[in-house]
Amino acid sequence: MRPTTEQIVNALKNVIDPDLQKNLVSLGMIENIVTGDNTVSFKLVLTTPACPLREKLKNDCIEAVKKYVDSSLDVRVEVSSKVKTNPQVSDKTAILPQVKNIILIASGKGGVGKSTVSVNMAISLAKTGAKVGLIDADIYGPSIPMMFNLSNQKPEAFEKDGVVKVLPFEKFGIKLISIGFFVDPEKALIWRGPMASNALKQLFTDVEWGELDYLIIDTPPGTGDIHLTLVQTLDVAGVAIVTTPQNVALADARKAINMFRADGIKVPVLGLIENMSYFVPAELPENKYYIFGKDGGSKLAAEMKIPLLGQIPIVQSICESGDAGEPIAAMENNIVEKSFVMLAEKLTQQLSIWNAFYEATDVEKHEETCNCKK
Ligand SMILES: Nc1ncnc2c1ncn2[C@@H]1O[C@H](COP(=O)(O)OP(=O)(O)OP(=O)(O)O)[C@@H](O)[C@H]1O
Ligand SMILES: [Mg+2]
Repeated sequence: MRPTTEQIVNALKNVIDPDLQKNLVSLGMIENIVTGDNTVSFKLVLTTPACPLREKLKNDCIEAVKKYVDSSLDVRVEVSSKVKTNPQVSDKTAILPQVKNIILIASGKGGVGKSTVSVNMAISLAKTGAKVGLIDADIYGPSIPMMFNLSNQKPEAFEKDGVVKVLPFEKFGIKLISIGFFVDPEKALIWRGPMASNALKQLFTDVEWGELDYLIIDTPPGTGDIHLTLVQTLDVAGVAIVTTPQNVALADARKAINMFRADGIKVPVLGLIENMSYFVPAELPENKYYIFGKDGGSKLAAEMKIPLLGQIPIVQSICESGDAGEPIAAMENNIVEKSFVMLAEKLTQQLSIWNAFYEATDVEKHEETCNCKK
């Protein structure tokens, strides 16, 4: 038999995206339906290349066509992706109109692993095929130059339409810039608020970022002037909070979440990332030691009604690779690299949900359906 396009469309209306809770046809995720004798092919366009539901959605499409049209059809699905732009970006005159989603990585407490998570997650996201940028906005202690083995290097500058622009470095598949490339970190320590904010703004206005699906911003510890400058200057799509399972870190993470939810700020909190969740000795990879306590992250996530996006173990090679300028996510086939890929998938999944359903400030409505309540 040769099915009609209408039959295929009707069949695919039965496939529901479990995150976005609408059918794939109404979400505009089906393109290019071509039918022939006993064959049909179409494109499934996902909202992110890091979609963890890729295989499930593809299989659901095939099953639906076979069930509702003809079980003997040869169904071919080509999976691709088009990252959605955060709805806020088109509303205002965005500073970075070519950047689809700006994601902040923040914490309450220092030293919990913001930079480690930002760097490795950015690289993992790029590996899925996304266009990714990374900004080190830690004006008081930039660590990204060292993590990329770019200490003491200066990015290239060029003139565009009479204005001097800076080219970001490109390494491990991502574009990156650190405030550390422009200032002496020892002097930056004594900067006062307005000076720091102005220097920071130049990382958006003066750097030639080009088109990006995701721009990840690594922030200083706490919630201070830098965070306020970021949320006031940029259309921030969401923030992910990093914590360890230790009580002092959790208490500070709670404060940070409340700050991002406060009136006048209202940045979607995409979820909590628990770092240093347990120690895994290299020679006994099956053993887990909960050095900083167990389940702290999941309890806080449940209390704040946000998803726990991932748990990253304490692994010596994470630390060593960061110091050596070759982040672990850039290395193939190790268990830690996989946990950063999963983290990247969960984060972008939450972002797609926010982008699809809600105004960025509609926190309560989001909580009714977000995965964290399951
Ligand atoms: N999961 C991990 N396993 C082992 N070492 C880790 C892990 N996460 C981070 N580290 C190490 O802990 C130290 C602090 O991490 P990192 O610099 O990423 O934290 P931070 O939150 O960015 O700190 P700051 O608040 O100073 O910016 C670094 O030496 C890093 O290599
Ligand atoms: Mg840091």
